[in-house]
Amino acid sequence: MDVETVEKEAIEKLEKVSNAQELEQFRVEFLGKKGKITSLMKNLKNLPPEERPAYGKRVNELREKVERLFSEKKKQIEELLERERMEKMRVDVTLPGARRKVGHSHPVLKVMEEIERIFVSMGFDVVEGPEIETTWHNFDALNTPEWHPARDEHDSFYITDELLLRTHTSPVQIRTMLERKPPIAIISPGKVYRRDYDATHLPMFHQVEGLHVDRDLSVAHLKFTLEEFARRMFGKNARIRLRPSYFPFTEPSFEVDVYLSGYGWLEILGAGMVDPNVFLNVGYDPEEWTGYAFGMGVERISMLKYGITDIREFVRNDVRFLSSY
Ligand code: DAH
Repeated sequence: MDVETVEKEAIEKLEKVSNAQELEQFRVEFLGKKGKITSLMKNLKNLPPEERPAYGKRVNELREKVERLFSEKKKQIEELLERERMEKMRVDVTLPGARRKVGHSHPVLKVMEEIERIFVSMGFDVVEGPEIETTWHNFDALNTPEWHPARDEHDSFYITDELLLRTHTSPVQIRTMLERKPPIAIISPGKVYRRDYDATHLPMFHQVEGLHVDRDLSVAHLKFTLEEFARRMFGKNARIRLRPSYFPFTEPSFEVDVYLSGYGWLEILGAGMVDPNVFLNVGYDPEEWTGYAFGMGVERISMLKYGITDIREFVRNDVRFLSSY
C-alpha cells in the first residue's frame, strides 16, 4: 500500500468514527504498533537509499497529520460523552416539587366549628358534657318522664338502667344550669347516639345545643338569634320560620325551618322556651327566669349546606368524598 492510499483511507475512516470504541479501533488500525502507518515506515528498508529520506519524511508527515486529526476527533467524542452525561443529570427546575399531602378537618367538624364561631360572636360560651349520661340528666330533668316514648329502649343505647349514651346534647343544659348562675348563654357541641342507621340516620351523630337564660326573654329573642344564625350559615337571604311542635323540655316548642332557594323550606332544628318544670328541676325560680333553647343536627346542616344526600358518606372514610369539602 502506498502513502496516498493509506492517507485517503485514514481520513475517510476517521470521518465516520462516532464513538470511543470506533475511535480505539481506528487507533489500532492506523497508529498502533502493527498499524498501517507503522507498516508504511517498515517499507523504508525495501527502498533504494536515495528515495528513503523523502519517503520517510512523507510518512512522518502523514503520521503527524493523522495523529492531529485523531486527537481532534477524540476531543469531539469526549465532549459528546460529557454532554450526554450532563443531559442525563439535567434537572427540570420548572417541574412541580414533591408535595406532601396535608389532610384537613372532617366536613362535620368544619361545620361544627362554623356554628361555634357564629354563636361565640353573639356572646355564647362553648361548653361540653359527657357522652355517657345518667337517665336523670338525659330525660327526667328535661321533663321527660318514664312513660315518654323517647325513653323507649329501641331508641337508646343503655349501659345500665341508669346510664346510657346520651341521645341528645340537651342534658348539657341541665349540667350547665346546675353549675352556673343565670344569666347564662351557652352552646354545646358534641356526639349523640341513637339506634338508627339508614340514608338519613347514623347511630352516632353530632348536635349543637343552645341555651340562653335571663330575665324577660321571649320568642322574639329566640327567633332573632336563630335567624341571625341562619343568615350567617346559609347566606344573607336565608329566612326562617317557626312551626309549632312539641318537646318535653320547652313550652311553647317549635320546629325551625330555613328557606333555601332551590330547596324550599327545610327543617334544621328544634327549639322553644325553657319549660318551667325544667327550671324547677335545677332549682331556678320560673317566675324570675326565662330562657330559650335549641338543638340542631350538625350532619343535617352540613348536608343542606353542601347538597350531600346520604348521611353515611360522613363515616365511610372515602378520601375522595372527604377532600371535596
Ligand atoms: N334535643 C332535641 C332533639 O334531639 C332537640 C331540641 C329541641 C333541643 C328543642 C332543644 C330544644 O334545646 O329546645 O331532637
